[in-house]
Amino acid sequence: METKQQNRILNVWVNLCRFILGIVFVFSGFAKAVDPLGSKYKIQDYVDAFGLSSLMPDFFPLFLSIFLATFEFSMGGFLLFGIRKKTSTVLVFLMMLFMTPLTLYLAIKNPVSDCGCFGDLFILTNWQTFGKNIVLLIAAISCFIWRDRIIRLISEKSQWLIALYLISFGLILSLYCYRNLPILDFLPYKIGTNIPQSMSIPPNSKKSVYENIFILEKGGVKKEFSLENYPDSTWHFIDSRNVLKEKGYEPPIHDFSMNEMETGKDITDSVLSSKGYTFFLVAHRMEEADDNDIDLINEIYDYCVENGYGFYCLTSSLDSQIEQWKAKTGAEYPFCLTDDVTLKTIIRSNPGLILIKDGVILNKWHHSNLPDEYILSGKLDKLTIGRQKPVDDVRTIDWVVFWFAVPLFFVMGIDVLVIKRLDKKKKGRYLINPLINNKMRKNIVAGNWKMNKNLAEGLALAKELNEVLANEKPNCDVIIGTPFIHLASVATAIDTNKIGVAAQNCADKESGAYTGEVSAAMVASTGAKYVILGHSERRAYYHETLETLKDKVKLALANDLTPIFCIGEVLAEREAEKQNEVVLSQLAGSLYDLSAEDFSKIILAYEPVWAIGTGKTATAQQAQEIHAYIRSTIVEKYGKEVAENTSILYGGSCKASNAKELFANPDVDGGLIGGASLKVADFKGIIDAFNA
Ligand code: PGA
Repeated sequence: METKQQNRILNVWVNLCRFILGIVFVFSGFAKAVDPLGSKYKIQDYVDAFGLSSLMPDFFPLFLSIFLATFEFSMGGFLLFGIRKKTSTVLVFLMMLFMTPLTLYLAIKNPVSDCGCFGDLFILTNWQTFGKNIVLLIAAISCFIWRDRIIRLISEKSQWLIALYLISFGLILSLYCYRNLPILDFLPYKIGTNIPQSMSIPPNSKKSVYENIFILEKGGVKKEFSLENYPDSTWHFIDSRNVLKEKGYEPPIHDFSMNEMETGKDITDSVLSSKGYTFFLVAHRMEEADDNDIDLINEIYDYCVENGYGFYCLTSSLDSQIEQWKAKTGAEYPFCLTDDVTLKTIIRSNPGLILIKDGVILNKWHHSNLPDEYILSGKLDKLTIGRQKPVDDVRTIDWVVFWFAVPLFFVMGIDVLVIKRLDKKKKGRYLINPLINNKMRKNIVAGNWKMNKNLAEGLALAKELNEVLANEKPNCDVIIGTPFIHLASVATAIDTNKIGVAAQNCADKESGAYTGEVSAAMVASTGAKYVILGHSERRAYYHETLETLKDKVKLALANDLTPIFCIGEVLAEREAEKQNEVVLSQLAGSLYDLSAEDFSKIILAYEPVWAIGTGKTATAQQAQEIHAYIRSTIVEKYGKEVAENTSILYGGSCKASNAKELFANPDVDGGLIGGASLKVADFKGIIDAFNA
């Protein structure tokens, strides 16, 4: 078992990993959601680089882009809030397991220049991406292995609401930015950009350095030389090439040009330096452009002609496709050829419209929001759209954060309020939110009839209890542990949703020649849902060992029975103050090999043997002390959350008269009741201890 110190370090480590992963995933999901078309282009690059284009349907890159944005954003959010821990850690781990080798391949082979992990918000080289993924993979493995240690920041009850909210937010943001323009523009053609200025190279800036490489041959051997080591004339010249040695200053815009379609003439300078307004209809591929708004586009062109403004359609399509577009839309505006990537960079809409004046980008429109006749109601210099649209990225981010946070805080507020109400109602015993109180485990009162009551008597007792509880809503789960022969009849005679049925033992073997034994599967087949295991009477009189109990627990769990596992020390051990040691060895010997998931299905019952059936009860303080100790060992083994979820019952001369005091202890979650479970009035008195 880990020491306390190691345990603490591990908790800190896992939660650190979870925050790092959460933040990175939210950030990368957000960057993709803001620019879904940008991610689509990147995915298309990957598909092309791997030669998969013929295998993928056309919609796939866009679908994957929106899916990835939503997935990364919501998984990041899940990790940050600590909700759906298993699902989120498994998915994030699988994603990193896939991405890390892929990015190693990209770094070595370089088929695409940057990975596109964070859209255009933050560009990493392929090697940087690989390094980042190694770190994230380590974090993902840690979170996956020790997911139970991730602290949940929202109640379990409200987690579905937050999960739904995160997924919806990611999806809606992606769709909004797809149907409109990205709410943040990270590309060089932002509103306010002076294109000619952004294209110019300052006089003193560093120039790119190129080197001539010569390929020469001698005696059938080809070799490369530079000017510095150029060999003697015994070598024959074959070829030469120019290689970029050092990259110089590259202006933000270095690839913008427009050539008239008809003449092939480069009109970039004349258009950019002309005074006044010019519209560019940017359609990188005419054949893929959305033609729903062609009438509006034609109207805008007419408006430009009337008012003497420039209007050009920039495209990279072939002439034949341009002609088709003209025939389909009746376009009369001039067409210019521009590089495909440049056009995709100028505006994330096909087609999209931009307005420039004196070379400065004043405004951009997605094709679904083009300005109509009501907006273009006069000369541009008299209209708002004729002025540069104010853009403030910081404000936009503030707004997004605001609109993300307001509903989220609302949900969290409800969470806290509901919890507080529940808290009041249940007197602090049913708390859900770990920020307020970690107590989310069940309170339970379980009866153990032992070897008492024949079938008719037992059935009558069960029915009476059923009737008494029929119109009540106890503040705890109620279970009765009957002899084997009662199980099936009792389970059919009572409302098992209200009263759970438990066996008092099951075999340590699955099935076969074990005369007199009753298997866990047989118990489950009666309708019983629980089984009491490890009772001190069975340990003492039937010599049940740590090992046999371990097998019984496993078989019970495999048959969907919840074990009520008893532990406790004998008098001599208590007198020697060895009680902690004893219970720890019982837990470690039979239960602590279980996975956290299986362990969290177990109910524990601490029953000091010296108190069972003797009338001697452990004091409330003694019970609390050892219950708290038991829980601390669970924290060490399985982490805080599992420990906080484990119900630990007290057993040993528990009666209506002392139950309230015992159950009032924070670590005592109910009782396992022997003698007092044989009379309905007594048993009900103990159940009522939770109602007071
Ligand atoms: P008791 O027995 O309540 O009669 O002391 C408890 C038990 O053995 O489960």
